[in-house]
Amino acid sequence: MKQKIAIPRGTRDILSEEIGLWQTLESKARKIFKTYNYQEIRTPAFEQTALFSRSLGQTSDIVQKQMLNLEKEGLSLRPEGTASVVRSYIENNLDQKEQLTKLYYIGEMFRGERPQKGRYRQFHQIGAEAIGPNSRSPYLDAEVITLSINILKEFGLKDFVLNINTLGSQKDKENFSKKLRVLLKPEMDNLCEDCQERFERNALRILDCKNKKCKTVIQQCKIDDAYLCEESRNYFAQLKKALSDLGIVYHVSPHLVRGLDYYTDTVFEITSESLGAQDALGAGGRYENLVSQLGGPDVDAIGFALGIERIILALGQSEVKNQESLDVYLIALNEASLAEAFGLLNALREKSIRSDINYRSGSMKSQMRAADKSKAKFVLILGEDEIKNKEIALKDMKTGEQQKVAQEKIIEVLRGKL
Ligand code: HAM
Repeated sequence: MKQKIAIPRGTRDILSEEIGLWQTLESKARKIFKTYNYQEIRTPAFEQTALFSRSLGQTSDIVQKQMLNLEKEGLSLRPEGTASVVRSYIENNLDQKEQLTKLYYIGEMFRGERPQKGRYRQFHQIGAEAIGPNSRSPYLDAEVITLSINILKEFGLKDFVLNINTLGSQKDKENFSKKLRVLLKPEMDNLCEDCQERFERNALRILDCKNKKCKTVIQQCKIDDAYLCEESRNYFAQLKKALSDLGIVYHVSPHLVRGLDYYTDTVFEITSESLGAQDALGAGGRYENLVSQLGGPDVDAIGFALGIERIILALGQSEVKNQESLDVYLIALNEASLAEAFGLLNALREKSIRSDINYRSGSMKSQMRAADKSKAKFVLILGEDEIKNKEIALKDMKTGEQQKVAQEKIIEVLRGKL
């Protein structure tokens, strides 16, 4: 049995029993931030070391002793999610809990790539893996593919293409690789430098090289599926039928091999022309050996990952803009009314009414400009007169109508309007 790879020291997996609590805490925090008009920001999980030594102090304990130096520790930032999910599946003996474990993840990934449009060194994936003794079924492949397509549709994406292929079993893959090497050997000089290197290590990868010269060579090779065994061929036929029965449109793409070594049988990729050179919105496939190779039981699995940045690029600018607006913007016209307005602001937030204020009371004109910018639905104005009469001016920003409301009634009135 292969040796298992343990979780790094000082870290833990958050398994499904606990995840509900995390989600509740996260969604509650998100809701409260929203009420207070705080927007989320996400910065990369790595920065130039100089940022920390300059800001925290070269001689501080953090910089001197506590900074995690990845290379020294034998650790790497994760380039994808599948290997970590499989490591966790093995380490937590999840195979003993159920015959099929279905997990999903949303998170940041890191690759030391040459950045370009749609290709970043830190990016985010929404992914899922279905692992276990019961996972070898073309219907599960169809489920996983449909799931990824439906997520994209739910996000509002339409113009994408689903490409599928089969690599066959591990044995088929090896045969295919051998055959390909025989076919490509005389063409070595016509392949790009990367592919000349791939020739020995992973000849299959030459099939989906984007280089024009390599594409021409491949086209001339006339690849067919003769390398597939009967079982793999039947499995793929069943998958295609299951997809067609579900009304899923797909293209069989015999050159689709995927860049990661672990795949066997089904592989798929979802592309969008609007993305340019880096056109994959997401991809996935089946892996029959990865779990056992990492020291786990001999079980199959299938999964996918969608790239969030690519999804956002494909959605285009109009969808990217923050669509949420504030409920109420408060205007205090002088220092005295600011104290009253601050009390009201907190009362509104306690009732989950999204509201904000400018703490430096300025002229009515500049405050109205700020209110406009905040896109608040209503503006509440507190000046000397209003305080004297225990009233507040309520302006509907859509209609422009303004009315006076008794201060004690304002939350009730707003609630009726929101
Ligand atoms: P992958 O094809 O390497 O597969 O990545 C999946 C998706 O992540 C890509 O289609 C793309 O949308 C996005 N992506 C990858 N690299 C970058 C990058 N540098 N910048 C922006 N987006 C990127 C996997 O990661 C496999 N783990 C998928 C899988 C799950 N297979 C089985 N289970």
